[in-house]
Amino acid sequence: MNSYTKYINLIDLNDYPVSWWDQLLELGHEIRLSPEKFSDSCKGKIMGTLFYEPSTRTQMSFQTAMLRLGGTVIGFDNPATSSVAKGENIKDTTKIVSSYADIMVMRHPVAGSVKAAALTADCPVINAGDGGHLHPTQTLTDLMTLKEEKGSLQDLTIGLCGDLKNGRTVHSLIKAMTCYKGNRFVLISTPELALPMYIKDVLSAGGFEYKEVTSLEEAIGSLDVLYMTRIQRERFPSEEDYQAQKGSYILDRRKMLMAKKDMIVLHPLPRVDEIAIEVDSDSRAMYFKQAKYGMYIRMSLILTILNKNGVPAPLICGRPLPAVRCSNPGCITNHEEYLPRYFIGSGDTVICEYCDERTLL
Ligand code: NCD
Repeated sequence: MNSYTKYINLIDLNDYPVSWWDQLLELGHEIRLSPEKFSDSCKGKIMGTLFYEPSTRTQMSFQTAMLRLGGTVIGFDNPATSSVAKGENIKDTTKIVSSYADIMVMRHPVAGSVKAAALTADCPVINAGDGGHLHPTQTLTDLMTLKEEKGSLQDLTIGLCGDLKNGRTVHSLIKAMTCYKGNRFVLISTPELALPMYIKDVLSAGGFEYKEVTSLEEAIGSLDVLYMTRIQRERFPSEEDYQAQKGSYILDRRKMLMAKKDMIVLHPLPRVDEIAIEVDSDSRAMYFKQAKYGMYIRMSLILTILNKNGVPAPLICGRPLPAVRCSNPGCITNHEEYLPRYFIGSGDTVICEYCDERTLL
């Protein structure tokens, strides 16, 4: 099966070859150096932004990116003010917006929801975050930051710290960095917030060296990159569970003294308390610059998709198993019943096409 291939959708960066990412990064670099050259590149084009979840940087950087390319933007950032509040399903809302717009950007609290939208949309769809699952355009932002600031995407020791369980930016970034040679991963979290199995599977399958540790102090000295993340309060089953994890990791000036002189600190933002404000003035703190790179790489992405520079990746590679239910209660197929259920694999365990979780047959 190889269906739904009409548009260059971006649901998961790993659906595309690294050569396409490199093309995006090169164009992003060119745009950063001379943005004025691109100010009319998307004249007459409309981008639809559907944000079912709060966002500052992702939404505004997408909007700014389109405006800087000469295009315009429609959409909502609060589903309560759209027909979603009346109970409209994802399929109908996105079908309509995609018939008004030339390109659509969507963020939603449920894993697999953006792929679900892309199955029936009438324009290319970009995943701006689907629950705790993936966030490919944050990863493009992170790759651009690493490329511009470290000069390479290979042979880096990358520490990822905080909520590795629920942090979709962590999942997407690890998947991407395993496509470059020689990277090593240090996973710094409490046991409760450890990386999900399906991302560990990616590390193991690629033969990547990775360590799981609980102490930031012990790990920091070995790192080239420290990727800090927020504990994702909204994804905890209860406030009590969140309170038990809150404040587990705080990067401060004292810990920065233990780090290499050329280690850089990344964070997708927003920050809560995991990076003390005193770190902002350290020249290794790269998170504000990182957010600016996000705008350039999104300009590059919009332009590339609208110019059809790339080969559309199939949305579905597996087979329909209508009688099987995904074991992940947080998967979109368990929220919107009309969705066709597709799974990859043939043994006792199959992988859900929407959320990547394993289901036992
Ligand atoms: C991240 C997200 O939404 O996943 N933010 C972002 O897009 N820059 C990280 C977060 O919310 O913690």
